Amino acid sequence: MNGKLILFDTTLRDGEQAPGYAMNLDEKVRMALQLEALGVDVMEAGFAIASPGDSDAVKAIARAMKRSTVCSLARALEKDIDAAALAIRDAVHPRIHTFIATSELHLKYKLKLSREACLRQIRHAVSYARNRCAEVEFSAEDASRTDPDFLCRVAETAIAAGASVVNIPDTVGYTTPQEFGSLIKRLHDRVKGMDRAILSVHCHDDLGLAVANTLAGIRAGARQAECTISGIGERAGNAALEEIVMGLVTRRDFYGRLETGIKTEEIARTAKLLSTITGVKIAPNKAIVGANAFAHESGIHQHGVLSKAETYEIMTPESVGMKQTELVLGKHSGQHAFESRIRDLGYDLTPERMGEAFAAFKVLADRKKQITDRDLVAIVEAGAAWKSGSSDEWKLDSFVVNSGNHMSATAQVTLVKGKRKVQDAALGTGPIYASFRAIEKIVKHKFVLEDYRIDAVTEHRDALGEVLVKISDAKGVYRGRGVSTDVIEGSIMALLVAVNRMLEVK
Ligand code: KIV
Ligand code: ZN
Repeated sequence: MNGKLILFDTTLRDGEQAPGYAMNLDEKVRMALQLEALGVDVMEAGFAIASPGDSDAVKAIARAMKRSTVCSLARALEKDIDAAALAIRDAVHPRIHTFIATSELHLKYKLKLSREACLRQIRHAVSYARNRCAEVEFSAEDASRTDPDFLCRVAETAIAAGASVVNIPDTVGYTTPQEFGSLIKRLHDRVKGMDRAILSVHCHDDLGLAVANTLAGIRAGARQAECTISGIGERAGNAALEEIVMGLVTRRDFYGRLETGIKTEEIARTAKLLSTITGVKIAPNKAIVGANAFAHESGIHQHGVLSKAETYEIMTPESVGMKQTELVLGKHSGQHAFESRIRDLGYDLTPERMGEAFAAFKVLADRKKQITDRDLVAIVEAGAAWKSGSSDEWKLDSFVVNSGNHMSATAQVTLVKGKRKVQDAALGTGPIYASFRAIEKIVKHKFVLEDYRIDAVTEHRDALGEVLVKISDAKGVYRGRGVSTDVIEGSIMALLVAVNRMLEVK
């Protein structure tokens, strides 16, 4: 196999639809910039009709991307296509991605549509989209459970109406590599007009076969693969971009020279950014980007790797950006060393943000002997969350807590907002709970604590505690992150980020 494989990333649409992965506009733009740096050819930025938030995010991403194609999803309906066209209008390379289900099951029970009516809708939707955007992709939802002969007619209709990409989703993760490979080959060989279009695959992971099915589809002739970072997506997720790409790179002997535009050294950074933004940890055993993916514990393996890495490593950690030299900074490190390390870690901070991060670093250096890259990332990320809201936000002034094993905990918290300083106190079953209740009283807005997690950023006793808080009210769910060597302070900072986001929505 030779040629070019188009990588279509749908982390910001299919991925973001998965529970726990919702991102706000700033977070989506940050993620999109990193996806472009990674080298994805196409990014699906959202589903414009779904909500004003989705539409705004697609618009912002469309304006921010210079190289990647930006696309919005749309059902095969005029109003969806209009919303998608409007959202991607400012993109350098825009694409509309329209879809309709084609399996008997979906046609009969979900859409209540005959096959002929379905074909008519495809014809109309694709040509309607083509009148609004030069590049149109058509997807046959539930394609892997669609009668293959009908699927051929569907693809022919979409191409004849002007689609330049025909996508074949295994929507419910039902197919197998052999079966899916045969289906793609059949479409590739038999569909009239296929030489004018790109055949694409989009596989879900319900049976753990998404990447295997995607690779089988590519071997059979697909030249676009739809995927997400770390395989996030509806239910069990989508095919993981990093696994597809490294599969092709590592097994060139098997797959041939199929080129992608992906800069593999950016893979780890991209997966880490997604985890940092969403607060969802990468499983240690996750292929390519998990903490254990290149760790060798057993003596036999360690001996082998030390003698010759290839004995137990089929790719190098450096090739996917997993191993960077951990430079340790301390309280004697100057601003120059600090700034150059922050830049090496991939952050492009304004002078003001850099100054704030340096001040936070100095405070930490007084409490903690050695500051590692992971500490620096935590400082910058917590700062980003803290600063990303409007200027009219609550900030921590001071707190006092009192707790013990034979008493209720009490917390007295003082917050400032502009020139206002407000203090309140509350009881709780523990000092963090008491602090949260005091904050709830000060901001006068009730919320539910959905999730609270605390992690040590590094292994040592003086480690920074990184706190992730998720709260909700009637209008939505809001996340916050805080870091401190004091877990109560870190918790209050994390809660305030979430509270400020909640009040901004209000
Ligand atoms: O899984 C699926 O079928 C989809 C389509 C909308 C492409 O995500
Ligand atoms: Zn999907």
